[in-house]
Amino acid sequence: MTAQQTQLEYLPPDLKRELLPKHVAVIMDGNGRWAKRQGLPRIMGHKRGVDALKDLLRCCKDWGIEALTAYAFSTENWGRPQEEVDFLMTLFQRVLRQELREMVEENVQIRFVGNLSSLPRALQAEISRSVEETKNNRSIRFTVATNYGGRQEIVQACRAIAVEVQQGLLQPDEIDEATFERHLYTTGISDPDLLIRTSGEMRISNFLLWQIAYSEIYITDTLWPDFDRSEFHRALCDYQQRERRFGKV
Ligand code: IPE
Ligand code: IPE
Ligand code: MG
Repeated sequence: MTAQQTQLEYLPPDLKRELLPKHVAVIMDGNGRWAKRQGLPRIMGHKRGVDALKDLLRCCKDWGIEALTAYAFSTENWGRPQEEVDFLMTLFQRVLRQELREMVEENVQIRFVGNLSSLPRALQAEISRSVEETKNNRSIRFTVATNYGGRQEIVQACRAIAVEVQQGLLQPDEIDEATFERHLYTTGISDPDLLIRTSGEMRISNFLLWQIAYSEIYITDTLWPDFDRSEFHRALCDYQQRERRFGKV
């Protein structure tokens, strides 16, 4: 049986393969509120959030979605209590170490977007290792936005372009959308077709500002740790009803 046939078998019958988003991006919000509702400390919500992300990655792979991008930590999240920030950094490091073998076996390619150089050294090392060991994998492209901010990404792209102009490698009037895209962290990854935000907040929170210009947005009240396959199925059904016009008629 080919990989394609396996995927077709897994795909729920009410979803149309030809209308699946190629790239899904998620703002995984509501871990803290989930924990609070259970009478648990916020960090327990983050732990459960990891399980929800693992399930979603597996589901995307099973259903033949080519790319998944998840917002794990924003440039603004450093402003949280130090214990929560420390817990998250350690959690990211531990999960990466634990999951690497499975990602390799499952043919998952992982990459990271964001200002990685200011993450803890040990986490940077784990990131480099996972990126290197999965770089030739092709079943799904999994991108994790860590210390990511859309504005920061745009500013660093401007700086890099300015340096090229200063060095005489580029003329200002040669700068176009393609030039700009090449300097974004996400270069080489298609723009998200579908952006999902959990926990009901109607905002973007500095995520992929350039890339979501024409993404379809789906917001659910479900808190991230409760976002499961059936919730994702619902989001995809909703997406498949949309008419994407891209400014045309
Ligand atoms: C999202 O959940 C996870 C991160 C931002 C790291 P939150 O921690 O923002 O959960 P709420 O929004 O406070 O419920
Ligand atoms: C967005 O969630 C960032 C991540 C999911 C990593 P936040 O909880 O930080 O966003 P706000 O504060 O509600 O806008
Ligand atoms: Mg939040």
